[in-house]
This record gives sequence, structure tokens and C-alpha cells, in this order.
Amino acid sequence: MLARLLTRPYPSRHDRPLVLGHRGASADAPENTLAAFREAVRQGADGVELDVMRCGSGELVVCHDEWLDRLAGEHLEVARTPLVALRRLDVGSRHSARFTGERIPTLAEALAVLPRAAVCNVEIKCDTLLDRGLSFRVAREIRRSEAGQDLVLSSFNPLSLARARFFAPRLPAALLVDTSQNLPLREAAARALGAAAVHVEHRLCTPDSVRRWHRQGFKVAAWTVDEPGDVERCCAAGVDVLISNRPRAVLVSIDRLGIAD
Ligand code: G3P
Ligand code: MG
Repeated sequence: MLARLLTRPYPSRHDRPLVLGHRGASADAPENTLAAFREAVRQGADGVELDVMRCGSGELVVCHDEWLDRLAGEHLEVARTPLVALRRLDVGSRHSARFTGERIPTLAEALAVLPRAAVCNVEIKCDTLLDRGLSFRVAREIRRSEAGQDLVLSSFNPLSLARARFFAPRLPAALLVDTSQNLPLREAAARALGAAAVHVEHRLCTPDSVRRWHRQGFKVAAWTVDEPGDVERCCAAGVDVLISNRPRAVLVSIDRLGIAD
């Protein structure tokens, strides 16, 4: 519990939950691109969630999928493709023609484009036992960054989170939880890892479950919350953070609920 108190994630707002753009404002701009991060800020989001992995030449790149078929129409595996080749890919035009030429950014570029006041949740994407130095490099990159945002490291992989806690003990960490997982086991893992938050699939958020996570000392972020009914349910349940593809629409929904000052 002490470790968690020393690494409190997310600045508290008393008027409403924080709203983060999921992969940026990914409904309105290509996911995990600088355009999506700028768009999230433009829409009034408090910050963004983004996904990070290592590419073939070792750099940290911001990307969700292991393979680039969906995003770039190329059958290339990120982990085996060097940065110079990733740089040539257009990951914008499949979203819309006006984003043609949008590139996969590095983590450093993503942090540089976010304002200092923004919150940034860096999700470490790794589903293997060994991580090829991913968590170490994320921690090092964040230490080097002069961007100064409030950062939270998260992962579905408890081993990645353990490594993140080891290499960046002062950064708050969050364990991701989805509906397919054993909830008591995930909660025990989050406690054992000194996680300061749980990032849960929004369907798991009820007044009881959120109260239980709060009692364990966790802040609670719900993902991916796009529909007004889900915004209302998560707000009523008392979540601290809403992660959404549509941050502006979420802010409008919150406004309509009348919980914002
Ligand atoms: O971090 C919340 C959410 O992004 C987890 O799922 O697959 O969208 O990265 P995914
Ligand atoms: Mg993610």
C-alpha cells in the first residue's frame, strides 16, 4: 500500500472523471499517430492512452497491432521490421484520405507532441515471458523525456508490469483487466505488483466493483467507453478515468449528466 501511496496515478479532478483519448482520439484520426494525439488534446481530453512495442531495430514505436495488415495494408511484423522501413508506411489513409502519409511515431515523438499538462498512459504491449528489453527501454525513454507529463505505465502482462515497477519504481503502474480474466487473481496480482491503478474493461464497472477496487487502494480507469449509456454507468459507478476513442463525445455526455461543475 505504501508503494502505491508514493506513486499516486492521475491527478484528481473533483468535478468529473479524467478523460483520456484511447490511442489518441482514434475515432477521428488514425490510432496511435501524432494526429490522433493532437486531436485528443484539441477535443479537450485530459490526455491519451497509447500502445508501445519494440520494432525490429529496437526502437520504441507507438503501435497496437503486432502485424501491420490492418493499419498499413502490409503483411509486416513490427517486431521484425526496422524503424527505417516502418517510417515508410502510411498508417493514415486507411482511416481517411486526409490523413494520408501519417506515420507510426516513436514513443519519444509521441511524448514530445503532448502538452506538459497532459496525462499519458503508456500501455506496454508484450504477451511473452521475455520482453527483449521493452520495459527497461520504456522506463529509460520516460526518464530521458523532458516533456514532463503525468505518466502511468500499464500492461495486461504482469511480468511487464513487474519489470516496469523495477526499472521505474517512481512511476505509477496499472494492471489491465478484461472480462475474460479471473478477477480475484488479477486483483491479487495488482496488489502484489504494487500497482496504483487497475485499468478495467468498462463492462466490469459497477458501484460494488469500483468500491472494492477503491478499498484496495487502486484508482480505476475504464476502457473503452464511447457510448453515452456506458459513460453514465461508469460515472455512476465512481470510476476515476474514462478511456475513450471519442473524448469530446464523452465530455459532452458527462456535461449532460450534470456532474461537471
Ligand atoms: O489500455 C486500455 C486498452 O487500450 C487495452 O486494450 O487492446 O485497446 O490496447 P487495447
Ligand atoms: Mg491500449
